Amino acid sequence: MSTKAKTKPRPSRLAGRVAWISGATSGIGEATAELFAQEGAKVALIGRRLELGHKIAARINRRSPGAALALACDVSSESDVAQSIAATVAQFGRLDILVNNAGIVEVRDLHEYSEAQWDHVMAVNVKSMFFAFKHAFPHLRAARRGYVVNVGSISSFVGQARTPVYTTSKHAILGLTRSIALDYAAHGIRCNCVCPGITETPMLWEHLNVRPDPRAALNERLNRVAMGISLSPLDVAKSILYFSCEDSAGVTGTSLTVDCGYLTAAEWQCTGPTAFQQIPKKS
Ligand SMILES: NC(=O)c1ccc[n+]([C@@H]2O[C@H](COP(=O)([O-])OP(=O)(O)OC[C@H]3O[C@@H](n4cnc5c(N)ncnc54)[C@H](O)[C@@H]3O)[C@@H](O)[C@H]2O)c1
Repeated sequence: MSTKAKTKPRPSRLAGRVAWISGATSGIGEATAELFAQEGAKVALIGRRLELGHKIAARINRRSPGAALALACDVSSESDVAQSIAATVAQFGRLDILVNNAGIVEVRDLHEYSEAQWDHVMAVNVKSMFFAFKHAFPHLRAARRGYVVNVGSISSFVGQARTPVYTTSKHAILGLTRSIALDYAAHGIRCNCVCPGITETPMLWEHLNVRPDPRAALNERLNRVAMGISLSPLDVAKSILYFSCEDSAGVTGTSLTVDCGYLTAAEWQCTGPTAFQQIPKKS
């Protein structure tokens, strides 16, 4: 007779839950939508590229126990955000989780910005979170347990060259996270912030492609990271999941830095190769 204990299948963390995820047509948002659906959630994929959203939703619906719906929405528009939240509730019957992930970066010096450019980055990265919370609140309250996860950055804590408005917006997200956590705990809502480091997504390449040799620029940056590697979108999605379920019970108003050790040192030169660089990670 085998002495091995039978392992019970792990219960899905998000069965019966509904999530609204912005910026879900690429990078971290897409990985979060997939992971949530694997955990049994119904997910609304919020983004401007509806066709792409439909393709991702079809893939999720084929492969996972959850369900997905793509909705067109520019998160800098209050009416778009309001409509997308109403459509999510109309389709899935409730709303439990808000993931404010959509974001943009502009690489230029501060004196080169026009007022409209400043306003646009702040609107997509921060004001969108106000719109989403405002329209999701009645539903999160009705769910009795509501989860809000805002995506910040290591730029929520330190400056990075030639991205002054992005850095300002990501610092602001920490303040907004704490305010929501304080003011809405009475309604059963927890609000936290995930702050990624160097993550291989289209946004990272947009940032690096302004350099003459983008790959060399990435390697140069990774030399300043303790683990010597970049993150995958799934690595970040796992922390977003943590804040979106009872694994993080009791945690609110805080931030989790997921950065392979980027912010652990003021000065650092990776002498590599690290074990993380040598052994491919398992997801
Ligand atoms: N990639 C990194 O290294 C990194 C590091 C720190 C923080 N982040 C943050 O992670 C989040 C996700 O970025 P990503 O790296 O996955 O990049 P990404 O470019 O793949 O994803 C950003 C998503 O936001 C969407 N978006 C942009 N403007 C929008 C708008 N007006 N309305 C609706 N959707 C809009 C984009 O279409 C895209 O799907 C962002 O908030 C970003 O600041 C990324």
